[in-house]
Amino acid sequence: MADKKAVLKIDGKDIELDVRSGSIGPDVIDINPLYKHSGAFTYDPGFTSTASCESKITYIDGDEGVLLHRGYPIEQLAEKGDFLEVCYLLLYGELPTAAQKADFDNRVTRHTMVHEQMSKFFSGYRRDAHPMAVMVGTVGALSAFYHDSTDITDPHQRMVASLRMIAKMPTIAAMAYKYHIGQPFVYPKNDLGYAANFLHMCFAVPCEEYKVNPVLARAMDRIFILHADHEQNASTSTVRLAGSSGANPFACIAAGIACLWGPAHGGANEAALNMLMEIGTVDRIPEYIAKAKDKNDPFRLMGFGHRVYKNYDPRARIMQKTMYEVLEATGRHNDPLMQVALELEKIALSDPYFKDKKLYPNVDFYSGITLRALGFPTTMFTVLFALARTVGWIAQWAEMIEDPQQRIGRPRQLYTGAPKRDYVKLDDRG
Ligand code: ACO
Repeated sequence: MADKKAVLKIDGKDIELDVRSGSIGPDVIDINPLYKHSGAFTYDPGFTSTASCESKITYIDGDEGVLLHRGYPIEQLAEKGDFLEVCYLLLYGELPTAAQKADFDNRVTRHTMVHEQMSKFFSGYRRDAHPMAVMVGTVGALSAFYHDSTDITDPHQRMVASLRMIAKMPTIAAMAYKYHIGQPFVYPKNDLGYAANFLHMCFAVPCEEYKVNPVLARAMDRIFILHADHEQNASTSTVRLAGSSGANPFACIAAGIACLWGPAHGGANEAALNMLMEIGTVDRIPEYIAKAKDKNDPFRLMGFGHRVYKNYDPRARIMQKTMYEVLEATGRHNDPLMQVALELEKIALSDPYFKDKKLYPNVDFYSGITLRALGFPTTMFTVLFALARTVGWIAQWAEMIEDPQQRIGRPRQLYTGAPKRDYVKLDDRG
């Protein structure tokens, strides 16, 4: 029984609802019994005031610009940890000991290859297929290749499926890339770290030696950390909703990838880089700021604004630092797009329109420049996001499956269509 109550008055009747408090963050009004007692639903398109679940994984304070995974600030994880350590933390709730970390790294590494038959699956795609289209299909197809780990009622199989996905996602993403550019697939090299192995699979070719630059591998690893989880965003909610029906985890992650592809979500880093290229030079920035502020112009500053952050996205700061490191290591420290981005940020942050609406750079603002300097085409940007977010999706999916309160997700609606009416025969219609 909650101590705090909220009272809703409807048709002269008081409905008392429990108010629940989390460990930090806003309280929630438990409206679960509302329909039973009042016959009314709540209405909240875009879920701006709705907590869809209880979770112990990630906490965001959008006003303060705080992001915590299992309580640990993203800045500390990105600075001091590595991606597989963050994966362990998200999945199991605690940072691993040295022995647990070694065992986890080993188990992930042992699963990096995909079934050889999967390469034939790739060749069914048009040769110019967008790698995200390939990702949606091939990740969904994993359920056919690894059917043995689709029993969601078995905790061991759930963990096997989770490790398989974390391990195989770089291999599949690299294969999608190689297919897209017409180069042969490169097998995983298990003596390399997670991020270095991914860079190797993307950029090595059979005809010459490819040595992974450790600065770039560290930057890639940090980019993966920054995208590992982000609470109940659109794609994570998609994964949870798909999983609530009992669908297998590979299918659920494929659904998450499909959702992530949208330009308002994972597609924003591609859109942000395209925007910076379109602006091209610093002198054209005022023209684009004016377009973004014009109510009659659909243009938005891509990489700016966030549903939750009404402050600087903490990931954007780390991404900016990573961008400097990558540009330095690749000899692009005078990249004109970086100048455009820095100046655009400066102008937007001092403009009353952006200040009043609390629009700040999000993680995507600097990631495009960084990923391009790492050697990726824009078509791969969202793929890299999907690769990194897989652990968040899978941790959230597992938490949902293990939640005793879990039921199939089934929202209701406010119906505004035609009331009941009788069928009219074709000949009698006017
Ligand atoms: N440029 C200009 N104006 C903007 C921007 C922007 N990037 N973002 C929001 N606004 C304005 C809106 O026009 C609106 O103005 P109004 O109140 O006068 O109508 C107001 O700010 C609020 O915007 P909403 O769209 O209602 O905010 P919402 O929370 O629904 O949208 C979103 C958030 C989708 C991220 C939005 O800010 C946006 O489109 N940004 C650009 C795309 C982007 O960078 N997405 C990446 C998100 S981060 C991620 O997925 C990893």
